[in-house]
Amino acid sequence: MSKEKIEKKIKEEIELDPVTADTIAKEFKEHSVAEFFKKNKQMLGLYGKVRTLTTIIHEYVSNSLDACEEANILPEIEVKLDELGEEYYEATVKDNGPGLTEETVGKAFGQLLAGTKFHRMMQARGQQGIGASGCTMLSQSTTGKATKVITGKGDGKVISLELTIDPKMNQAKITNFKKVDKEYRGTAVQAKFKGVIYKDTQGGVLEYLRRTAIANPHAQIKFRDPKGQTVLFKRTLTHIPKKPKEMKPHPLGTTVDDLVTMSKYTESRKAGSFLKNEFDRVGDTSLQKIQNMIRFDLNKDPHQLSWEECEQLIQAFKKVDFIAPSTEGLSPIGEDRIKKSLESIVKPEFVVTLTRKPKIYAGGYSFQIEVGLAYGGNAGERTSSNPEDVKVELMRYANRAPLLFDGGSCAITKAIQSVEWKRYGVRDLDSAPLAVFINFISVHVPYTGAGKQAITDEEEIMEELRLSLMDCGRRMGIYLGAKRREHDRKMKQEMFYKYIPEIATALSSVTKEKKETLITKLEKLVKDKLGLEKLEAKIKSKQVGKEEQEKADDEIGKAVVVEDEGSGDE
Ligand SMILES: Nc1ncnc2c1ncn2[C@@H]1O[C@H](COP(=O)(O)OP(=O)(O)OP(=O)(O)O)[C@@H](O)[C@H]1O
Ligand SMILES: [Mg+2]
Repeated sequence: MSKEKIEKKIKEEIELDPVTADTIAKEFKEHSVAEFFKKNKQMLGLYGKVRTLTTIIHEYVSNSLDACEEANILPEIEVKLDELGEEYYEATVKDNGPGLTEETVGKAFGQLLAGTKFHRMMQARGQQGIGASGCTMLSQSTTGKATKVITGKGDGKVISLELTIDPKMNQAKITNFKKVDKEYRGTAVQAKFKGVIYKDTQGGVLEYLRRTAIANPHAQIKFRDPKGQTVLFKRTLTHIPKKPKEMKPHPLGTTVDDLVTMSKYTESRKAGSFLKNEFDRVGDTSLQKIQNMIRFDLNKDPHQLSWEECEQLIQAFKKVDFIAPSTEGLSPIGEDRIKKSLESIVKPEFVVTLTRKPKIYAGGYSFQIEVGLAYGGNAGERTSSNPEDVKVELMRYANRAPLLFDGGSCAITKAIQSVEWKRYGVRDLDSAPLAVFINFISVHVPYTGAGKQAITDEEEIMEELRLSLMDCGRRMGIYLGAKRREHDRKMKQEMFYKYIPEIATALSSVTKEKKETLITKLEKLVKDKLGLEKLEAKIKSKQVGKEEQEKADDEIGKAVVVEDEGSGDE
């Protein structure tokens, strides 16, 4: 068709069916959040056959761990996968948590954007209110079947029900509701999914649970795979981690918009008491300093604060020397526990760990970084049966939940790649027998998407991640340096020993001393010169590791002081 003909046809079609504001208005429809996520499952990380199954288990297991910890219960979690057909599986996750009530069970599993964690400033694995319900929706949209839930509070009564989500209303449709007399405390969920595959690979369920066990040494996790094989990740810690407390936002990092919104809903009657009551680390002294820097009275009603006045407050906050954010809302794993976990699960030759002090990023949220570097032994990923064919293993976590996907867009990966590992004795990071463990903890993790697999590379986060890695890298470097020196000395010894018999023969003919005596004396001379006897004795008494660690601690002390003065590292 010629150009003229095409243009004529388009003109005719437009004339026949003109698009006006009125026709557009007729097309306008509203849709619920459930309809939105039903159409955009990929935003919840529910795409890719293996990834989807791992994400489902991740959502259920994270909820179980959150619930147990909140109720001060040592988690005991059972995960089962059954293959029902081609790319068709049934997932069952059972916990010994506090259970759910008749009123909340429907909302928990059958309503998107509903939950207990979104409005709280407290460290938890979940934070959006879409994990469990997203799985319910995926199950019904791929199999047409309902999700089964059994839950009990340990009071002799157990609720059992089946549910689906009404996408238009974003509400749970409950069927087969039963209340039975039974002693069970916890929640068990069972759902079927099509278009998913179980694989024992890097992004698979088994690897996900292995990593969960490393960062949650207090949890016992039992997994039965579709072939019926059972793996038990035993707890290596028998007490529950300190429960994080709910926190207030820190003034540094709070935005004008946050302040405006908070001021509208506060119960305080004066702007001063609003700041004191609803922000972390605001006391009388800092209030006085703020008052001296702004052009309105802090006795003013906070509900009447204008955008411009909030801007003044934010400017003033920046000039006040606030105490660092309180750490009560954060629950780090701890250096010793990370070390034990990595030793027992990764089985490396050497581990260094570090838990840094909390910092804040935009929004007034505090965060803390924990690093573990496991070197040698079984550390690193092995893709073939050749033990030499090893790859660095990056273990990313947010609030102790493993992040297995979207590594390329995650601040943790970017920080690891930005560090000059050569400085710390690792010549080629990619092929190093090394596991890099990083746990990012915060009351609000700034994920790049609703799938919760990558952390945003905010400036403060990147800087702190790099400093943490470099701190830990130095410790490892000192150990690797000592190892390398020992190796070099051994090589030199071998070289000298090779020539000793020849030298002894020549000397013996000149001095008439026995050849054997000369050999013994020369060997001792070599050992003394290289300091090998002392080194061997130290290695036998395990002094080397200890001394190197102490030396590393001293070095870190010095390094931290230098970094705090703002020199950076590289
Ligand atoms: N196993 C469980 N035991 C007790 N409560 C649970 C359990 N699973 C879910 N819940 C409750 O249901 C709510 C909704 O869970 P859901 O996974 O949808 O959201 P979330 O965990 O709050 O956030 P996210 O979407 O980030 O996972 C949770 O906030 C929690 O209160
Ligand atoms: Mg959740």
